[in-house]
Amino acid sequence: MKYSLPSTSKLLDKAFTFGVATASFQIEGASESRLPCIWDTFCATAGKVRDGSNGDVACNHYNLWQQDVELISSLGVDAYRLSISWPRVMHKDGSLNPQGVNFYIGLLDALNAKGIKPFVTLYHWDLPQHLEDNGGWLNRETAYLFRDYADKITQALGDRVYSYATFNEPFCSSYLGYEVGIHAPGLAKKSYGRQAAHHILLAHGLAMPVLQKNSPHSLNGIVLNFTPAYPLTDSEADNTAAKLADEYFNQWYIKPLFDGAYPDSFALLSDEDKPIIHDGDFDIMQAPLDFLGVNFYTRTVYQAAAGKPFAEVDMLDAPKTDMGWEIYPQAFTDLLVSLHEKYALPPVYITENGAAMPDKLLNGVVNDQDRIGYYQMHLTAVHNAIEQGVNIDGYFAWSLMDNFEWAEGYLKRFGIVYVDYATQQRTIKNSGIAFKTLIGSR
Ligand code: FCB
Repeated sequence: MKYSLPSTSKLLDKAFTFGVATASFQIEGASESRLPCIWDTFCATAGKVRDGSNGDVACNHYNLWQQDVELISSLGVDAYRLSISWPRVMHKDGSLNPQGVNFYIGLLDALNAKGIKPFVTLYHWDLPQHLEDNGGWLNRETAYLFRDYADKITQALGDRVYSYATFNEPFCSSYLGYEVGIHAPGLAKKSYGRQAAHHILLAHGLAMPVLQKNSPHSLNGIVLNFTPAYPLTDSEADNTAAKLADEYFNQWYIKPLFDGAYPDSFALLSDEDKPIIHDGDFDIMQAPLDFLGVNFYTRTVYQAAAGKPFAEVDMLDAPKTDMGWEIYPQAFTDLLVSLHEKYALPPVYITENGAAMPDKLLNGVVNDQDRIGYYQMHLTAVHNAIEQGVNIDGYFAWSLMDNFEWAEGYLKRFGIVYVDYATQQRTIKNSGIAFKTLIGSR
């Protein structure tokens, strides 16, 4: 029940940051004490969330936060990544809601008192519903409203935050939410996905100088997710398919931030699918970052197909997690090295990595050897990327505890802590004990 790394590994330096991560909608509950968000609406729409569940109670973290801080502290981690619920801290008229702000102030103060560095994400998918009613991320105005929210909340939180990320995974918000509709708000049109992405990246760029001004001592940046694309065979056609998929799903969200442009395959979009871009948008998006957060879970394999640029291949015999995601840690190393080669990266933090597994709580124990195996391989993959020259300063396990897994509801468990939703009892899984042992061994 131990993770092992070479004794000289940077991951074993005390200066390397180990943390656990969560997000507001997935754990807080207490939906009655905030404004409705797009995920409330999505959950209330029949057939959208697999178990018909919602975020009304979730892990009841809004009420149990003090015991949760004790739990986080008991793991010995250096840092805790959380997100702020926009609809909890802002009224409809754009003024701060003191009750919501005080919740986060209490939480941040408790973390700091325990010496746990707060890594705060300002947007982890819970857009206020009243903004969606006004077009959501399809409306350019939302980017400016995000900047206002970022301005007000960062002033209110003062110097309590170690690191701010503007957005978590713009890919998911725009592609899953507006292009294919499997996440909130559930719209499905190619042009919508591309326009939402553009407005989210713009919102990020508008907020960055605000963060640097209001919170000059924190590490300010963004969290992007990557699902590396591999060709099924060595053929030129499959290689082209994988390259186009990589541009569409991955590079689309990072290239504007570092190179001030979309990937070349932007030219393949029809005129009506192209987002509306204003002069100067790319300059705004290229605001310098103090760090880049990278989330990694799996890869995808592609092949060439008639009539479309790429086709996804299901690797039938490959090992997979409970999400059906292939376990392929080499892609993690390859990804980090390739990002380092392609872009002038600031220090990188792995802001999410982990696995859903079919956990069983037996006599007070979750012996999740499958998840331990996943973490062992992926920690090693991060170590290998560092050995190949990538500047990586931290690693966060997704997740601190089992929680509301979006369209999968409560059916998938990603925690290193088990949650019994009937009693809200938390039990540290064996993967969590191993994480604690690794961190404590430094
Ligand atoms: C990521 C999300 C996070 C969690 C994991 C499994 O895409 O950022 O909230 O759901 O996937």
